[in-house]
Amino acid sequence: SAPLRIALAGLGTVGAGVIRLLDANADLVTARAGRPLEVVAVSARDRNRDRGVDLSGFAWEGDMTQMASRGDVDVVVELVGGADGPALTLARDTIAAGKGLVTANKAMIAHHGLALAESAEAQGTALKFEAAVAGGIPIVKGLREGAAANSIEHIYGILNGTANYILSTMESSGADFATTLKDAQELGYAEADPTFDIEGIDAAHKLAILAAISFGARVDFEAVACEGISRVRAADIAQADALGYVIRLIGMADISTDSSGAPVLLQQVKPCLVPKGHPLAHVTGPTNAVVAEGNYSGRLLFQGAGAGEGPTASAVVADLIDIARGEAGAPFSVPAAALQAMAPAESGARIGQTY
Ligand code: NDP
Ligand code: HSE
Repeated sequence: SAPLRIALAGLGTVGAGVIRLLDANADLVTARAGRPLEVVAVSARDRNRDRGVDLSGFAWEGDMTQMASRGDVDVVVELVGGADGPALTLARDTIAAGKGLVTANKAMIAHHGLALAESAEAQGTALKFEAAVAGGIPIVKGLREGAAANSIEHIYGILNGTANYILSTMESSGADFATTLKDAQELGYAEADPTFDIEGIDAAHKLAILAAISFGARVDFEAVACEGISRVRAADIAQADALGYVIRLIGMADISTDSSGAPVLLQQVKPCLVPKGHPLAHVTGPTNAVVAEGNYSGRLLFQGAGAGEGPTASAVVADLIDIARGEAGAPFSVPAAALQAMAPAESGARIGQTY
């Protein structure tokens, strides 16, 4: 069969990982996709940088936004980052050109996902962002497809690998915050601006996306009450330990109704005391874990690597395989026009019930 022809924008941690995965797992990916996945063009800022991957077989696109108009491309993979700027231009142009878009960019989806989904649906093209939430965990697919028969009222968990790596390393080795953050950056877990990780913004992006998929709500990042881990000190971790707790950065979303019966949505990211016996207390390193409670499935726990090259590349390529098979579907479970605007719930209204 004809190959799915791919343009890859961004050759950093995730982009280079996608090239490595496609090379290492070429046979099984082709078998599962039903046709080869073929990278035809790549783009990054610095053409001369050694990325540890062979780029000689790909066309180099100096201006990545031009990838959308290439005649030899079916799907653009955006692995650059940033809610706006060239990533958003490329996303909009790709969809407008009727090509599929795969992205790991949670900031862009949290801010512009609804508009992009509307455009993709109008164009009849694919918009896929499995890698944008919880790295290698197939949480988007798990909720959109695996839990599709359920009403979900609560979803919560550890959504940022860098913050979890910092907290759990400080806890186990007594390392200081700054050193541990530097390690997370060197290991490729952190965002280009690590403020997003340590101030809870990245977790808030992911939570807003999960809430949309779980509850059929419009993505509403601005409504997420957000507090990060930058003020957590070694002494806080030691005190929590003495009391039988660990500290984890938890994102939680909870749907309920107001006095008139209208749906209201609570979305919150904050450092929480988690009892040592709770499953989330055992989640260490750059791991993520998400709990979703479905009314027929019961409690579902999704756990796995939340950041890093291999796991994130795995999620990106899974999206490409779906597109190659012609199985893209609505980006947010239901058509964008069916997503409901929901007022923010009063802070803390039902949080006590999520644990
Ligand atoms: P990196 O910073 O490692 O890589 C970004 C890439 O984008 C680099 O290759 C860079 O080029 C390129 N780039 C930046 N600006 C431009 C531009 N204006 N034009 C062309 N290329 C540009 O980021 P990651 O790979 O870590 O992340 C990529 C995306 O994936 C982000 O949206 C991130 O949030 C998301 N993500 C990352 C995860 C991770 O674990 N790292 C996990 C899940 C999602 P150059 O190399 O030449 O500087
Ligand atoms: N910086 C993010 C994290 C990458 O640490 O979770 C994965 O989305």
